[in-house]
Amino acid sequence: MSLKPIGGTMMLSKIPIDLERVKKEVLDKEILRSAMIAELDAINLYEQMADMTQNKNIRKLLLDVAREEKTHVGEFQALLLMKDKEQEKELKEGKKEVEELME
Ligand SMILES: [Fe+2]
Repeated sequence: MSLKPIGGTMMLSKIPIDLERVKKEVLDKEILRSAMIAELDAINLYEQMADMTQNKNIRKLLLDVAREEKTHVGEFQALLLMKDKEQEKELKEGKKEVEELME
């Protein structure tokens, strides 16, 4: 991971893995994970900018786009889970563990 903190924020404009060195069979999964990271980063960025602006319309637009990015996270995740059955299983496991912890 090559995360570069800029002004207190983690900027992820570059794919944080060396795709050329990755084996072909895992490449698509890594692309989908990187796409998810980019979408999650976009949500943070848009929400941070929405908090910064004094303009109501810009704020409204940024929050609407942030919501759309959450859909994009879901799209990439859905495809990733089709390709990564271990992740599908562990995602459910993680949810179960948190639910048990919160009881
Ligand atoms: Fe997006």
